[in-house]
Amino acid sequence: MVDTSDEWIIKRTGIKTRHIAQNETTSDMGTKAALQAIERSGLAKDDIDMIVCATISPDYFCMPSTACMIAKKLGISNVPAFDISAACTGFIYALATAKAFIESKMAKNVLIVGTERLSAIVDYTDRTTCILFGDGAGAAVVSASEKKEEAIMDVHICADGKYHDYLITPGCGTNKPCSEEVLKERECFIHMKGNETFKVAVKTLTNDVVDILAKNGIDSDDISYFVPHQANYRILNAVASALKLKKEQVVVTVDKYGNTSSASIPMAINDLYESNKLSKGDLLLLDAFGGGFTWGSALVPFAPHS
Ligand code: UT7
Repeated sequence: MVDTSDEWIIKRTGIKTRHIAQNETTSDMGTKAALQAIERSGLAKDDIDMIVCATISPDYFCMPSTACMIAKKLGISNVPAFDISAACTGFIYALATAKAFIESKMAKNVLIVGTERLSAIVDYTDRTTCILFGDGAGAAVVSASEKKEEAIMDVHICADGKYHDYLITPGCGTNKPCSEEVLKERECFIHMKGNETFKVAVKTLTNDVVDILAKNGIDSDDISYFVPHQANYRILNAVASALKLKKEQVVVTVDKYGNTSSASIPMAINDLYESNKLSKGDLLLLDAFGGGFTWGSALVPFAPHS
């Protein structure tokens, strides 16, 4: 489709395969991941008292939210359900939201979902972006607990809108409503200043993870697994090297799934879980960076529902 090569893509990004949804919407994939998460939690669907969905590729432009579609497909009604728009950092924003609602006692069991059908908003004539993105979904149930060792240790979320045009879908919003010109210029698709984004991402993420570890008195050796957003192997490797993490501490799935935006972190945690590498009490360091720019990190002990 475009002038590129397997060799270039693997060398510059680490991506070998990606998955493209054929007949599924973003909420279809999110619902499947959510059902799996609820089943593994041992809770009943009725126990879920809030649904938060992070996505930049919603089923519908504006409304209804993808969270509402997931709630409908799960058969859960009469609970708050809403989307979070924080691009690739969406899952960490959702985690922060769940933590805040639970700590303020406004919710007990929050379903958080990261789901993306990015293939619907990727321009397959643009070689600088179309080789990066894939589709997928992941989910988790975050619950209240009296046990301190099970608590999310810390979540840090941040943004700087001065970089808003580095990673953007320029058309079809109120800034530039849908028109023939917008469609002709392919402005309803993802546009990215890749190299500039890369540089800000490495610097910002490194500072962010160093800060969250220092703030919580955690050494790199205390981290069981570093689960970064999977945008580019070179980015996550640069951050892991700055923290002097060992190879076995770093979770890499970008080779298998490409960049799935808000879904990449829960999908990577799921890979760990399904390969039986996760044990109760393992400390996860999450980090993500995305359009906005937004970024964030979290320290989360793996505490399966018993
Ligand atoms: O998830 C949210 C955050 N996203 C990110 O953090 C992604 C950040 N960016 C990246 O991952 C990388 O910048 C890219 C993978 C997008 C690009 O890699 P790069 O090493 O920064 O390459 P570049 O943009 O500096 O381009 C180098 C060359 C250019 O050619 P010239 O000008 O040197 O002749 C590009 O036109 O590579 C060319 N190029 C390609 N060549 C073959 C760009 N895309 C391709 C391609 N195939 N697909």
